[in-house]
Amino acid sequence: MRVRPVTEADFEELARGLKIVVDEKRWVAIQPPVSETELVERMRERLAEGRLLFALEDPDAEDGPALIGHIDLHRTRIDGVWALGMWILPGARGKGGGRMLLEAAIDARPMDVHKIELEVWPHNEAAIALYERLGFEREGLRRDHYRRRDGRLHSSMIMARLFPEAF
Ligand SMILES: CC(C)(COP(=O)(O)OP(=O)(O)OC[C@H]1O[C@@H](n2cnc3c(N)ncnc32)[C@H](O)[C@@H]1OP(=O)(O)O)[C@@H](O)C(=O)NCCC(=O)NCCS
Repeated sequence: MRVRPVTEADFEELARGLKIVVDEKRWVAIQPPVSETELVERMRERLAEGRLLFALEDPDAEDGPALIGHIDLHRTRIDGVWALGMWILPGARGKGGGRMLLEAAIDARPMDVHKIELEVWPHNEAAIALYERLGFEREGLRRDHYRRRDGRLHSSMIMARLFPEAF
């Protein structure tokens, strides 16, 4: 597995991958139905905005090199605070790829970033474990914050890692 920056040529494959994760309806904030076309357009806007986008590639996949994960690190409205979102395809989880992607994004942060934050569903034990392994701490719970398409409210946990070298 290797991590590399996303280029426009990756959009369709990454959109197909993200759609699989969205359709699991369990881990990410985006809700189905969502089309691959919408996801491609979203990625085009994000790359143009200057977000740091990386793909995780499996060079030894059966049908040739395949993109099996993605991370998006981007600025927020608060100076020096960036946020991230990420996913790995279901069959590729638990093999160290999430750690590789997250380490690459952290290493690529601009030097004036003093905090990287994220939100995670509280039941997402794998994600919380990964974030804690890489120095993210639980900052708080947004209780019953998000109305989902099924009408139910979901809480999310805010986690963040500080970078004292930028203080
Ligand atoms: C969360 C996610 C990105 C983690 O990526 P991954 O490739 O499965 O994780 P890794 O194999 O790199 O594991 C990273 C660390 O977390 C730990 N971990 C992974 N899965 C775990 C689990 N189910 N329970 C406990 N710990 C777990 C590993 O032990 C590992 O620690 P180590 O490197 O010190 O051994 C991936 O599972 C995923 O894409 N899930 C669905 C989408 C998602 O949840 N995105 C994040 C939304 S906030």
